[in-house]
Amino acid sequence: VSGASGCSLLTGTPQPRLLPSTAPLPAPFTVPLPLPEVARPYRTDGTADHYELVQRAAEVEILPGLRTPVWGYGGSFPGPTIEARSGRETVVRVSNGLGVPTVTHLHGGRTPPESDGYPTDLVRPGARKDYTFPLDQRAATLWYHDHRMDYTGQQVWRGLAGFFLVRDDEEDALPLPEGERDVPLMVCDRSFAEDGSMPYPGLADRPGVREAYMGGVLGDVILVNGAPWPELRVERARYRFRLLNGSNARPYEFALAPGGTIVQIGGDGGLLAAPRRLRRVRLAPGERADVVVDFSAYRAGDLVELRNLAGEGPQGRVMRFAVGGDARDDSAIPETLSRIERLDPAKAAVTRDFAFTGGSLHGGTGWLVNDRPFDTRRVEARPRLGDTEIWRLTSDVAHPVHLHLAHFQVLSVNGERPAGPPEWKDTVELREVQTVEIITRFTGYRGRYVMHCHNLEHEDMAMMANFEVV
Ligand code: C2O
Ligand code: CU
Repeated sequence: VSGASGCSLLTGTPQPRLLPSTAPLPAPFTVPLPLPEVARPYRTDGTADHYELVQRAAEVEILPGLRTPVWGYGGSFPGPTIEARSGRETVVRVSNGLGVPTVTHLHGGRTPPESDGYPTDLVRPGARKDYTFPLDQRAATLWYHDHRMDYTGQQVWRGLAGFFLVRDDEEDALPLPEGERDVPLMVCDRSFAEDGSMPYPGLADRPGVREAYMGGVLGDVILVNGAPWPELRVERARYRFRLLNGSNARPYEFALAPGGTIVQIGGDGGLLAAPRRLRRVRLAPGERADVVVDFSAYRAGDLVELRNLAGEGPQGRVMRFAVGGDARDDSAIPETLSRIERLDPAKAAVTRDFAFTGGSLHGGTGWLVNDRPFDTRRVEARPRLGDTEIWRLTSDVAHPVHLHLAHFQVLSVNGERPAGPPEWKDTVELREVQTVEIITRFTGYRGRYVMHCHNLEHEDMAMMANFEVV
C-alpha cells in the first residue's frame, strides 16, 4: 500500500475489539468507590516539592475475592494522586521496580523536554529518574501515565496511571465544591481472566495479533478509580467530579439516569470561561471534564446512575450515587469562572496539515501521521518559540489527538466554529472522517515533543509525530 493522503488506506473500518472477561463479575454498584491515596512529598523546601513513586508489581483486589496482578505507581492502581500548586516546582522521582523499561509522561503538563516522557527516554529496571515539573500553568486536572514506545497500551492497561491535580489562587477564590466533595474519577475499562488477571494482547511482541486489535482494545468491565461499577454515597449537596477517560480506546458519553443536569466547569486545560449545563458529556481517551452535580435536586434514598451512552449493556453503566440526607452546602457555581484569551487565527505564522490515517507498517497494517509511521529521528514540524500556528488535523476513523506541551483551542470542526467562548484543551477527538482545526501558541520550552493519537493501541502502532519548538 502506498501513500495517498486524504483518504483511508484501510478497507473497512477497524472497530476497537472487546476482550471478553471469563472471571465472575460482581453485580453493578456493590463495590464502594475507592479514592486513590494522596501522595505525600518526601521533601519540601523553599522552591519545590519532591515526591517518590516506586513502580512495582502488586496484587490488588478489584473483583471481590480475586487477586489481580497490576503494575502500579506505588503498587496501586490508580497510582497515588499528586496535588500540586501552579507555579511551584514539583519533582517526581520515579523508581522502576518492574522488570521492563518505563517512561512517565505528565499528560497536560507544560514540561521541559527532558522531563516530558519522550517515548524512548527509558527508565530501565532498577533505575530511577527525577521528572521536574515547573507547573507554569493554570489549575487543571492532569494525569500521569506510562509512555514507553510501542508498549504504552500494555503498560497503562496493567495499571501505570494516576491523577495529578494542579491548583491555583484563581480557582481557590471560587466557591466550588471542595474537600470531600471534590472527587477525582478515573474511568477505564478492563477485562479479567478467570484467575482475576487482566490479560492484554501482546501487540508489539506478536505482529500477527496486531490486525485483530487495529481498532484498539476494549474491556467489558468499567472501572472507576480501579473498582468495577462502584457506588458512592453522597449528601444532598453539590459535588465536583473530575472525570478522566483513562481507557485505552473506549470513548464515553456520560449522562445521569433517571436524568439530571451535569454542569461542566472545566476541561483538559482547567476552568472554562463559563459553566455549561449539559445532559451528556463526551470524553475520548485522554480527555478530562470537571463537572458539578447538585444532588439536592434528588430526594434522600434516590439512586442516581452515571451511565455511558456510548456503551451497551454492562458497558453502558459506569457507577451509581446513593443519595443520603440533607447537608450544609456553601458551594456555588459562579456564572463567570475564568477569562480565556481567544487566540487569533489572523496572527498565525503558518497553517500545517496532519492526516491521521491507517496504512502499511512494517509489512502489515498500522496507523500513520501524514502517511508515515513514527520515527524518532524525523521531525514533522518546527514551530518557533512564541509563534501562533494553526494545525489542520484530518481523520479516517476516530482518533483522539493529543499534543504534548502546547494547549490549544479548537477553531473549527468540519468547517464549523464551535459555539461559546474558547476553551483550553490538550486532546481533541476527531470523529470518523473529520477535519478539526486547532490553534496554539508555542511557549515555555524549546525542544522535541510528540503529538499522537491517544487511542493507545493506535499510538503503539506508530500514530505519533515529532515536533520541535525552535
Ligand atoms: Cu496521555 Cu502522550 O499522552
Ligand atoms: Cu487513533
